[in-house]
Amino acid sequence: MASERDFNEVISGLAKKRGFYWGPSPEIYGGSSGFYDLGPLGKLLKNRLESVIRSSFVRSNFWEVECPTVSPEIVWKASGHLDGFMDPLTQCTKCDQVYRADNLIEEHSNDASLKGLSLDEMTKKIEELGIRCSACKSELGPVQQHNLMLKTKLGLDQDAYMRPETATTTYLLFKRFLTFFRDKLPASVFQIGKAYRNEISPRQGMLRLREFTQVEGQIFILEEDEMNWPQFEDIKDVELPLLAYQVQEKGNEKVSMVKMSEAVKKGYFQKPAYAWCVWLAYEIFRGMGFTNENMRLRQHLLNERAHYAADAWDVEIQTRSFGWVECCGIHDRGNYDLTRHQEFSKERMSVKVNKQPVVPNVLEIAFGVERPLFCLLDNSYAEDEERNWLKFPPPLAPVQVAIFPLMGKPELLTPAQEIFNAVLDSGLVTQFDRGGSIGRRYRRQDEVGTPFCVTVDYDSLEDSTVTVRDRDSMEQVRIKREELVETLHKLVKGTILFASLAK
Ligand code: GLY
Repeated sequence: MASERDFNEVISGLAKKRGFYWGPSPEIYGGSSGFYDLGPLGKLLKNRLESVIRSSFVRSNFWEVECPTVSPEIVWKASGHLDGFMDPLTQCTKCDQVYRADNLIEEHSNDASLKGLSLDEMTKKIEELGIRCSACKSELGPVQQHNLMLKTKLGLDQDAYMRPETATTTYLLFKRFLTFFRDKLPASVFQIGKAYRNEISPRQGMLRLREFTQVEGQIFILEEDEMNWPQFEDIKDVELPLLAYQVQEKGNEKVSMVKMSEAVKKGYFQKPAYAWCVWLAYEIFRGMGFTNENMRLRQHLLNERAHYAADAWDVEIQTRSFGWVECCGIHDRGNYDLTRHQEFSKERMSVKVNKQPVVPNVLEIAFGVERPLFCLLDNSYAEDEERNWLKFPPPLAPVQVAIFPLMGKPELLTPAQEIFNAVLDSGLVTQFDRGGSIGRRYRRQDEVGTPFCVTVDYDSLEDSTVTVRDRDSMEQVRIKREELVETLHKLVKGTILFASLAK
């Protein structure tokens, strides 16, 4: 198996060759870092992930909204992003090459306590570690702040910014939500939409994008409801792979499976409603194909938290390309945002509690879709001497079924085409492939993670059966033509296992 760095090459190579993603985009003009195009299979995979995400939120009583991606400067002044949404940078004193100081330090040291250093501390650390410009080996300058928002103009002269998160644009609707939810809190909403961050020299391909699709769920909630959240009862015995900050501060990076009720008792979570949000994020990631083997929930250290966050946990996924990757943030934003928007807009952002105005708190689940997409490719890749394949969970596979006529003869083509139409019409994403040997066609589908291939052969004409071949085991079974569509649906949904058919 390839080494850690090479593994990213394996995944990116496959992604490019088979049309998952291409870039940096626009490739024909040399490409701009941090922008990628999704190819046909990447787009199908992303749609699948979004559909899992959407159903998880809807099942949990969240309503979807969509807001503009550009907002005038006042919004970002109020949200705190104009003054606080910064990355620490250092620039080469000779060739002007710019680096993200925190990443540079992380790359040169494995010390976890180096997270959240101040600007001066980072400048000193760079000196101490002897880090120099990788391009010309000269000294690096003092660490400074750089705002991550992409600026634009509305009309000729109104300053505006591409949103760096969907969350803020959701908060601007709070008054409207009060009407929609008939003044009742808690109220839960989410957005799936584009967000933009002007990263300095983004590397790591799909993991650090300047334009990405963000998913953010928000719960507007009063403090007493945060402490009294009935849904917590349903999950109190569920065990999650937790790494609380108290544990990390003792120098321990080991994850333990902790019951949610225990986690609250141990003080890992102060509020049951927030703990429930951490569980929901975990569930969404499980729905996207990640398991306890490659997923952990890590609490931010106090000095790591964003300017609005009273508490913050991340969902992290272990990859063979980049080790642990931060994929989702769950934030207790308190009433910071609504208070600030009330102050700046002069609009009421409160509800009445005992006849007194109270600005509600916000609990948030926030993540980009491209990171789990990349992590899923990374985690799904498998190879042996014979082949390489993507072992996507069948419900997530971009192409769910491939139909092959054994040979390109009309007597096989016609029934294969009929079967293809029936499977496609039943709602499964299906590909028809008549090119090359059957072995090569199986390999092509394995490589893009198609879980089931159906072959129409000469026996099919005799006994009205077809073969269904399983991607992972490469085993085949014969299925009656009239049972095919229903069987494929059950296999794809995972309500039956292929092994049970093979018996
Ligand atoms: N809204 C939180 C974030 O963008 O990470």
